[in-house]
Amino acid sequence: MSKNSSRSLAVVILAAGKGTRMKSDLPKVMHPLAGAPMISWLRGTVEGLKPDEIVVVIGPDMKDLKDTVAPHKTAVQKERNGTAGALAVGMTQLKGFKGDVLVLLGDTPLITPQTLKSLIKAKQGSATTGLSVLGTELPDPTGYGRLIMNDDGSLRHIVEHKDASAKERAVTLVNTGAFCIDGNRLPGWLSKVDNNNAQGELYITDLPYIAAQEGFHTSVAVTYDFAEVLGCNTRADLADLEGTLQKRLRRAVMQSGVNMIDPATVYLHFDTKIAPGVMIEPSVFFGPGVTVKEGAHIKAFCHLEGATIGKNVSIGPFARLRPGTTLGDDVRIGNFVEVKKSKVGARSKINHLGYVGDCIMGEDVNFSAGAITVNYDGFTKHETRIGKGVMVGSNANLIAPISIDDGAFVAAGSTITENVPADALSITRDVASIREGWAAEYRKRKAALVKKLKKKKKAG
Ligand code: UD1
Ligand code: CA
Repeated sequence: MSKNSSRSLAVVILAAGKGTRMKSDLPKVMHPLAGAPMISWLRGTVEGLKPDEIVVVIGPDMKDLKDTVAPHKTAVQKERNGTAGALAVGMTQLKGFKGDVLVLLGDTPLITPQTLKSLIKAKQGSATTGLSVLGTELPDPTGYGRLIMNDDGSLRHIVEHKDASAKERAVTLVNTGAFCIDGNRLPGWLSKVDNNNAQGELYITDLPYIAAQEGFHTSVAVTYDFAEVLGCNTRADLADLEGTLQKRLRRAVMQSGVNMIDPATVYLHFDTKIAPGVMIEPSVFFGPGVTVKEGAHIKAFCHLEGATIGKNVSIGPFARLRPGTTLGDDVRIGNFVEVKKSKVGARSKINHLGYVGDCIMGEDVNFSAGAITVNYDGFTKHETRIGKGVMVGSNANLIAPISIDDGAFVAAGSTITENVPADALSITRDVASIREGWAAEYRKRKAALVKKLKKKKKAG
């Protein structure tokens, strides 16, 4: 932005608040949205504007937050005395800065670049404008500062909800918390803010009135998509923001050529990578680190984390892929199958009710219903190696560490404790014992017994 426009731009993000209403030890802006800290989303948007400086105002003991926004500068607000106090602290990192200062609230992370540009334009479009505020119309403005306008369309002042009269509370045009302010004037205006209000805090929302008193024009830019500027004060607000973000992420994925039958039930992570042509059925959850390649089909009710899914793979319904899973092309993972920290070779099938953990599986393996790798001895995990073209029968237990070589056959129901050489059969079952007529005899005996008991009961 600064490179193309006449005025340079600095951004100050206010994020020092304790977030008391979240009832959490985690700083509010570190709460995750699609798996990334709230502040990271705002940071990404702001970086896209290419400002000259970005400063984040943080509280004491917020090292994680400092690390999350590095290498951008941070300023520590020791006393949480309000948003104007926080901005004054941020300005200490911008000494001598002469351009415009874009002030954003860390708890309003989904604001879009286009909206920020319209706010900057509202400020920079006229030389007499000292400050612009981003407003929005809210169906329920409770809790938000109200924008009280003059008849000529300029901003008279902002009144906080707690300080507002009944008439002012009826106003639905609210302060989103985003401001673009003349950086030359800002320190002087900040020094005039007092805490003579319902919360005894220094409000940034006093600045428009102060600027207007000094004869500066103050203007309002409005966004009509209020969801992008909703703030996060409570866990319920956090869930609302998650909803907005998920909608955006799904839309982007679908635009890239992915099919979703019921997108509202699909949860994406910030780093989910899905190739065009993938089909995703309803109720699928993507945790961190999932990559899905072309042509794959994720059936309903799958939970996926830390997995790379090859081309044309079919998964689910009801499958779980855990971290460290790599599925080769054309693999089939069926219902009630869990795969963890394993490599599955191309075209292999694990179609029903299985567990594969710590396993290197070759190509064209058939891992039948109910078979499992027994990878844990109560103390440590062990590896199972399965060669190409192996047939593992139903309900087999492969006690790791173990190796089943290429083309071997493991008989259904076997518990395998010794390595199986290539093309061999391994079977561990009792010899079958058949007793002719036993079942019929048994039923007859039982029936007689029941009859006797009933008779006895009646008599007694
Ligand atoms: C604020 C605005 C309100 C606006 C709303 C939009 C003020 C006085 N009120 O209210 O007009 O409608 O946002 O969401 O500005 N912070 C600090 N230091 C502090 C206090 C706050 O850094 O001492 C930071 C917080 O971390 C937060 C942001 O400023 O990210 C906003 O603070 P918050 O207390 O949530 O303000 P609201 O009551 O939501
Ligand atoms: Ca807030």
